[in-house]
Amino acid sequence: MDTLFTLPSKFSRMEMSARESQTKSLAEHREACAEVITEKRADTKVPVVDFSCLEGTDRELICQQIAETSETWGIFQIVNHGIDPCLMKAAKDVSKEFFYLPEEEKMKIKVGPGLIEGWNHSKLAASGGDSKLYRPGTVEHMYLVQIPDTQEHRERYPRNPPSYRTTIQEYGKELKVLHEKIISVLSEMLGLKPGSLNVALTTPSGQVSMRTNFYAFNENREETTGICHAHSDPGGLTILLADDVPGLEVNKDGRWVPVNPIPGAFIVNIGDSLEMLSNGRYRSVEHRGLPSQNEERLTIATFYGASPEVMLGPIAELLDEKHPPRYRSCSFGEYIIAFVKSGLEGKSRIDRMKL
Ligand code: OGA
Ligand code: NI
Repeated sequence: MDTLFTLPSKFSRMEMSARESQTKSLAEHREACAEVITEKRADTKVPVVDFSCLEGTDRELICQQIAETSETWGIFQIVNHGIDPCLMKAAKDVSKEFFYLPEEEKMKIKVGPGLIEGWNHSKLAASGGDSKLYRPGTVEHMYLVQIPDTQEHRERYPRNPPSYRTTIQEYGKELKVLHEKIISVLSEMLGLKPGSLNVALTTPSGQVSMRTNFYAFNENREETTGICHAHSDPGGLTILLADDVPGLEVNKDGRWVPVNPIPGAFIVNIGDSLEMLSNGRYRSVEHRGLPSQNEERLTIATFYGASPEVMLGPIAELLDEKHPPRYRSCSFGEYIIAFVKSGLEGKSRIDRMKL
């Protein structure tokens, strides 16, 4: 067995009871679906999708809901997603343990010129934010690649805490499966074969990476670093684990709407790559992360998308005389370079790809 993907034994032991607590009766499923539909009508709230209904008689309804939400909001929360809650907790715990380390220890994997993998203060976050949103504390982040698991990517992982890499890579591997399930629904709902959108996104190869954001809280601190500046994510799909502490906001029709994380849920959002591939049917969402008013906040964003060499542009099967391409094509590498150069500025990067 590949020990790389083995969790520390204390998490494996807890796995069974956690799985049991996730099983629900059919009546409970139906009740959850009814709630979901009510949520959808209230258009000031980010929609909630019960992922377990994908397996049952409500499949069509749920697929439609996922597609509609991806077209209108570009973001939704999913409950009953099947990811082991112990693994989610392990990923959060090990991330916090790292951020709690003294600065000298974290400096060992600080990002440098030409390096984006590693740890840093979120300098971008501090620039150009709305000063009304600034709160006491600091923002730090860690960016790492889980898949492909090459030596180069592995070297950027911290050695402390010792279980960091195995836990985070296991988490990335599990989330990749969930990403692919969601993308397959999105593909089907475009009238394509379930795997087509994923093939277009990841051929010849795809990537799973993670950005962990830590909004430390310190009441007595005068210096304030602000927000994770408004942006859309450049990849295909992002699955955010948000530690039950509110702070994420999305721009819905020009209004900032808070996303209140449901305990145990994931927040899923469409990235620029899927907007381009779907020729604008699915919309990447402009969003920003804020520190909490009174407690620390940790988020783990898992990005699934293309490798730099993949060419992205509207999928040919979606185009005809009535539906001309609305975006230019470019390699994902080119897109990322432009994205990093221009900094986080809402949806301006994808807007510049429009024909
Ligand atoms: C991100 C992000 C939001 C948050 O890392 O891309 O949007 O609430 N994070 O931390
Ligand atoms: Ni983001």
